[in-house]
Amino acid sequence: MRLLPGLLLLLSAGSPAMQTLFQSPDEGWQVYTSAQAPDGKCLCTAVIPVQGTCSRDLRSHQLRQLTEKVQNISQSMEVLDLRTSRDLQYVRNTEALMKGLDTRLRAAADSQRSLNAKSFQELKDKMRELLPLIPVLDQYKSDTRMIVHLKEEVRNLSGSLLAIQEEMGAYDYEELQQRVLLLEARLHACVQKLGCGKLTGVSNPITIRASGSRFGSWMTDTMTPSADSRVWYMDGYYKGRRVLEFRTLNDFVTGQNFVQHLLPHPWAGTGHVVFNGSLYYNKYQSNVAVKYHFRSRSVLVQRSLPGAGYNNTFPYSWGGFSDIDFMVDESGLWAVYTTNQNAGNIVVSRVDPQTLEVLRSWDTGYPKRSAGEAFIICGTLYVTNSHLAGAKIYFAYYTNTSSYEYTDIPFHNQYSHISMLDYNPRERVLYTWNNGHQVIYNVTLFHVIKTSGEL
Ligand SMILES: *[C@@H]1O[C@H](CO)[C@@H](O)[C@H](O)[C@H]1NC(C)=O
Ligand SMILES: *[C@@H]1O[C@H](CO)[C@@H](O)[C@H](O)[C@H]1NC(C)=O
Ligand SMILES: *[C@@H]1O[C@H](CO)[C@@H](O)[C@H](O)[C@H]1NC(C)=O
Ligand SMILES: *[C@@H]1O[C@H](CO)[C@@H](O)[C@H](O)[C@H]1NC(C)=O
Ligand SMILES: *[C@@H]1O[C@H](CO)[C@@H](O)[C@H](O)[C@H]1NC(C)=O
Ligand SMILES: *[C@@H]1O[C@H](CO)[C@@H](O)[C@H](O)[C@H]1NC(C)=O
Repeated sequence: MRLLPGLLLLLSAGSPAMQTLFQSPDEGWQVYTSAQAPDGKCLCTAVIPVQGTCSRDLRSHQLRQLTEKVQNISQSMEVLDLRTSRDLQYVRNTEALMKGLDTRLRAAADSQRSLNAKSFQELKDKMRELLPLIPVLDQYKSDTRMIVHLKEEVRNLSGSLLAIQEEMGAYDYEELQQRVLLLEARLHACVQKLGCGKLTGVSNPITIRASGSRFGSWMTDTMTPSADSRVWYMDGYYKGRRVLEFRTLNDFVTGQNFVQHLLPHPWAGTGHVVFNGSLYYNKYQSNVAVKYHFRSRSVLVQRSLPGAGYNNTFPYSWGGFSDIDFMVDESGLWAVYTTNQNAGNIVVSRVDPQTLEVLRSWDTGYPKRSAGEAFIICGTLYVTNSHLAGAKIYFAYYTNTSSYEYTDIPFHNQYSHISMLDYNPRERVLYTWNNGHQVIYNVTLFHVIKTSGEL
């Protein structure tokens, strides 16, 4: 486990405000607002449900929109919940470790003779390094409680929405909308606070399956709701056209229940990504990006990435036509490649998923041929220094500040030849293809905020 000295406090969660629930619509009509008119009279608005009028159609449209909003919110909640519960596990382990260390320290202080001065000092230093983590851990636990609460509210709201679909006139749409807006804002704050951060650790590898050749690519969609767990599998690194689509992760593990897609254009490399129901990949012997839509089994758009090297001109260290690498993070689609103009240094570009146009590019300054692989989390590009044993995450480029830093994040390269490494923001997991094995890693992200003064 690595601890960053800068890791101090997470933002305060704030206690979520409670909202009153809606009354059941059993009355024929209802008074729903009251106010004081200038002449002192009390104003009341009565709503009398009228069946089959235009206002009902309008309301029905508004409700549909609200329902969709709540569905969106609950989808994001699901992702957030998955991530937070995993982080909480990490926090709990850390806590146990600290407590253990503290006990050892106390024991050592009681019988100093059993320990030499140097190792005692080391223990004390280690402890001092860990102490600032305590408030972070406490904060994390309260954040998790907040998510549980938010989840309950979303569930309640979905329930209310469902219930009023039959009894529309009797409800106060404005109030309902306010509640949804409030929820949205709180979810947004929650995502900002917990959803994104800096990569601080990679878990042990989990081998999902051993299958295929040395080089290949596999993935799940980076955007669909978690009920859709289809797995895509593309064996080989050049001239391939066969994509296998497994119904679930379990089917992938056992190798059954799949359909086949035959791509109209062959692929190059392993830098493909599935995003919102489409496969984005590099067409063989070209710098053309192709968007293939699975459901309609058709190419929706293809476009050249201006100046991008291809045909093994600027691959990653392992070769294999890996000149162009598509990836998706929390904020959308990216392409990683390089050009002659950038002298072979990695360029990371934001790409419009509809048109495949490059929206903006950053020159990271890191030579692409010296990179094992690259992936992007929360707008930060992470680069490994090798595809072989001993590889580590060595370099990080921050697109938000156009700056870089060298990192030293180890991970276990179990089968010693990684030909694909991609982050899945929905699952917060790294997908890799390692020497004919399909392997995933959990990642730990921390959102660091600066505190004034020292702790
Ligand atoms: C729900 O999410 C989808 C996809 O992100 C978006 O296109 C749609 O506008 C959202 N709906 C509402 C009502 O916010
Ligand atoms: C990764 O996360 C999953 C889901 O939270 C968990 O079941 C699994 O044990 C984790 N694996 C490792 C190696 O941390
Ligand atoms: C959800 O609804 C239940 C039952 O109506 C209520 O007890 C609970 O307090 C509500 N929770 C939230 C967070 O609004
Ligand atoms: C840039 O992104 C990194 C990683 O996500 C984050 O740690 C950092 O605080 C961000 N910087 C700014 C100025 O937003
Ligand atoms: C996802 O695809 C749907 C239709 O297939 C589209 O309406 C939506 O805008 C897409 N979302 C993104 C973020 O591209
Ligand atoms: C790709 O490279 C091979 C040999 O490395 C060469 O024969 C072929 O003509 C090149 N194709 C293109 C389109 O550049």
